[in-house]
Amino acid sequence: MLKSVIVLGGLLLALTLSSGSSGSSGSSVNKLHRVPIYRQKNFVKTRANIQAEVAHVRNKYNSQLTVESTTTQEQITNFMNMQYYGLITIGTPPQDFQVVFDTGSANLWVPSIKCRSPVCREHNMFNATASTSYVSNGEDLVLNYGSGGITGYLGSDVVNVNGMNIKNQTFGLATSQDTGGSVSSYDGILGMGYLSLSVDNVVPPFYNMISQGLVSKQIFSFYLASDGSNSYGGELIFGGSDPMWFIGNMVYTNVTREGYWQFMMDNATLNGNILCTNCPAIVDTGTSLIMAPAASYQIIMEVVGVNVFGIVDCSTISQMPVLTFAINGVMFGIPPSAYVIVDGLNNECTLGIQSMSENFWILGDVFIGQYYTEFDLAQNRLGFASIKGLSYTQGGGTQGGGTQGGGPQGGGNPQGGGAGNLQRMPALEFGLLVMVLFWKMLNYLQ
Ligand SMILES: *[C@@H]1O[C@H](CO)[C@@H](O)[C@H](O)[C@H]1NC(C)=O
Ligand SMILES: *[C@@H]1O[C@H](CO)[C@@H](O)[C@H](O)[C@H]1NC(C)=O
Ligand SMILES: *[C@@H]1O[C@H](CO)[C@@H](O)[C@H](O)[C@H]1NC(C)=O
Ligand SMILES: *[C@@H]1O[C@H](CO)[C@@H](O)[C@H](O)[C@H]1NC(C)=O
Repeated sequence: MLKSVIVLGGLLLALTLSSGSSGSSGSSVNKLHRVPIYRQKNFVKTRANIQAEVAHVRNKYNSQLTVESTTTQEQITNFMNMQYYGLITIGTPPQDFQVVFDTGSANLWVPSIKCRSPVCREHNMFNATASTSYVSNGEDLVLNYGSGGITGYLGSDVVNVNGMNIKNQTFGLATSQDTGGSVSSYDGILGMGYLSLSVDNVVPPFYNMISQGLVSKQIFSFYLASDGSNSYGGELIFGGSDPMWFIGNMVYTNVTREGYWQFMMDNATLNGNILCTNCPAIVDTGTSLIMAPAASYQIIMEVVGVNVFGIVDCSTISQMPVLTFAINGVMFGIPPSAYVIVDGLNNECTLGIQSMSENFWILGDVFIGQYYTEFDLAQNRLGFASIKGLSYTQGGGTQGGGTQGGGPQGGGNPQGGGAGNLQRMPALEFGLLVMVLFWKMLNYLQ
């Protein structure tokens, strides 16, 4: 009798705790592996570090300076801030590193304790001797970033990504690091591009996660939190996408060239001006900006009113038009609040859209911060969906881009279901745990 009362009580508790969410089970969500993305505290993106980043991105894609030579030697002394980073460990016992999860490259590297470059000294460096699981490889690694670069050698060890152990991961140990004078805020980079992009043909970490059965689906996805000022920056999710972060359907588009995560946009427009049609684009989580081909950028400058220093009038942001990318028939708007970077300290506003000589677009955090992005290696496709609370997509056909100020352009049909699923599981488990404990106690007492 007492037993059944307690069982009933426990059940009720479990149900109470898990109430407030309805419907579907979270079974598919269960298989997702979440990796927290952190955001630098007190992060202020200044024009100077935007310029340092522009130089870095151009080098990364071997692109020349174009249009205005707003990027001068001054970038050289800058700190190259990347707002978002994640934590990994390498070796046994684990050694900690802050890395950028970068879909625009495909190698993992960190500084080695053998590195003598001043840049390395300011970061965590890997001590191979201190790791019992380290296996030397002997092969050299040279990563060229245009003017600067990284040289070092390859080794293999266990790499831990938030509890997920990738065994025998080959990675680069940088022994010299020339980043053109700009100091990075992260220790190393974890590349998430295709194997064909990998220098020395080193198998990228995500491929090893797949072959070692660590992910249930060959998919990873990014949710970047673009608001707030705390250190929570979002999530990198392995094994699929989590509907708790987005609304509406994922809009898919095929990867057109496997290397970078490259695809074809239908067009890009700004206030009725066509910036390009059938435009190649690359989704690059290792870039905070949007990079536009020179010709497109020229139009953007004229429409938005950018001066030769790349600065816009802060007081006009609310009147600036929405930048719109058409992808697989759906309009993806980027509001000026996202594409203008406000440096409150210097009271300066800079475009988060910059130019390069290549004929493709690079969609970095300015874009990904608005759209949950899925990278599907099995089907070679990319998926985009509006992040909850930021609905700037608009279904096929008509374009809303002409309107000034550009608030949310409809599109979203909020479907609250997803968010509850996850919170529900721990509550249920807790309830069951309480039940079992009571049961055990009861048995013990008898
Ligand atoms: C690297 O690790 C070895 C073995 O633990 C230790 O003796 C050595 O001092 C370490 N080197 C540095 C530079 O920390
Ligand atoms: C480790 O990986 C390398 C290449 O990635 C492979 O040649 C080697 O056989 C692997 N070793 C083990 C023990 O799995
Ligand atoms: C995308 O790729 C899939 C599989 O390769 C193919 O079946 C489909 O037709 C492609 N879609 C488009 C729009 O090209
Ligand atoms: C851009 O592409 C979409 C289809 O995705 C189309 O509906 C729209 O008319 C195009 N806009 C321009 C200006 O070509």
